[in-house]
Formats: sequence, structure tokens, C-alpha cells
Amino acid sequence: MNSDSSNANVAQSELVESTLASRSAKVSDFSLFFSKFVAKGRQISSAVPSSPSMVDAVLQCVDFSRPATIVELGAGTGPITGQIIEHLRPHHRFVAVENDRDFCGILRRRFPEVTLLESDATRLADPLAKLGIHKVDYVLSGLPTPSLPPRSLLRLMHWLRDCLTPNGLFVQITVVPVLYLNFYRRLFDQVDYSSVWLNVPPGGVYQCSQPRKSFRRRR
Ligand SMILES: C[S@@+](CC[C@H](N)C(=O)[O-])C[C@H]1O[C@@H](n2cnc3c(N)ncnc32)[C@H](O)[C@@H]1O
Repeated sequence: MNSDSSNANVAQSELVESTLASRSAKVSDFSLFFSKFVAKGRQISSAVPSSPSMVDAVLQCVDFSRPATIVELGAGTGPITGQIIEHLRPHHRFVAVENDRDFCGILRRRFPEVTLLESDATRLADPLAKLGIHKVDYVLSGLPTPSLPPRSLLRLMHWLRDCLTPNGLFVQITVVPVLYLNFYRRLFDQVDYSSVWLNVPPGGVYQCSQPRKSFRRRR
């Protein structure tokens, strides 16, 4: 065998190994996610991690050509985190937040370069201030926001009012198409919704800006 064909064989077996490794990582993400969903229900809110089409829909909301501070809430196993990292440039600051210990373990192993807060996403003012972050341009949320306890939702909204820049955006994924449009309209002055039919299950993305000073909590 000449050296060209032996190099090709090595490259091919590396490709097969990495494809198998990424498939087995996906399978284990799905099974962990599903077991968390069974155990925690509405605190997880989806039985499976976001699909590539949901991730694309979220990333389309972010203008990566401009300097920005981006905070991801409820990063889970990191399908959105991984793609954000691919787009980051030196003029960006990025922090991921997740409160589930097992998901945090996965995120740390998978993305050691990411600043990860293992924390309640509705109590972020202090941990972010310790990182020198007082204003945020994009909050990308996978949180089960409509299912948050009223006090947690109130804290989240207070924080958003304080920390979102005037043109800042709160981007919320959902796996229940459009159902919560009025819920988000009560929380924000400006709300746009776009469907992501190719997600499993079909879902969408709310783009919200200008958090309201006061709001009614009813859904
Ligand atoms: C629907 S999953 C989204 C996961 C991931 N972003 C994705 O798109 O696949 C919701 C995530 O929010 C996390 N979460 C729920 N409540 C939270 C809270 N108060 N603080 C931080 N993370 C929270 C859950 O542990 C879960 O990982």
C-alpha cells in the first residue's frame, strides 16, 4: 500500500470514528434530556434538545457583525451554545446559564472555553455583575418561561428591564407554536413570532424587546 492510500485510510477511519462519536453523543443527549423531562416535567418543558432548524431560527435573531454581550438562559445539553460559539468574534462576550447539574457537566466537558454559570437564570444580576457584565444585548432563552413560578418570572422581568440595552432582544424558543403570544405581549411592548415547523415537535421563536414596566401575570 502506498503512503497516499494509507493516509486516505487513516482519514476515512478518523471520519467514521468522529461520526460514530457524534451520533452516540446525540443519542445520549436525547436519553438524558428525555429522562430529565420525565423527572422534572415543566421545568424542562421539552422532551428533546432543540433541532438544527430551531438553532438556526435563534441564531438568525443575532447580528454577529456588531459587538454584543450575549447571555443564553437554560442551555441544556448545548445545541444552541455550540452554534453560538461558532459565530463568536473577539467583539462578543458570551455567558451560558443552566441550573441542572448534569447538563452543566455536559456543557463544561463539551465547551470548556465557555463562561458557564450553574445558576438559577432568574437570579442573574449578581453573578453577571461579578463578571463585570451590567448590560446585555441578547438574552437567548430556552427557559420554560410561561411555567416559571410568579416570583421567578417577576425577578426575570425586573432583571431584563434593568440589563437589556435599549435595542436589546429577548429571544425565546417554544415547542408550542404561537400559543403564548399574548403571554409575551403582556411582558414586552414589542413581540414578533416566527414558526419553526421543522423542529420536533414543531415550535417557534418569540423575539421580544422593551420589557414592560408593569404587567399582568395571567397567561
Ligand atoms: C427546553 S430546555 C432547552 C435546552 C436547550 N437550550 C435546547 O434548546 O435544547 C430548558 C432548559 O432550561 C433549564 N432551566 C429551567 N429552569 C431554569 C432556571 N430557573 N435556571 C436555569 N436553567 C433553567 C432546564 O434545565 C433545561 O435545560
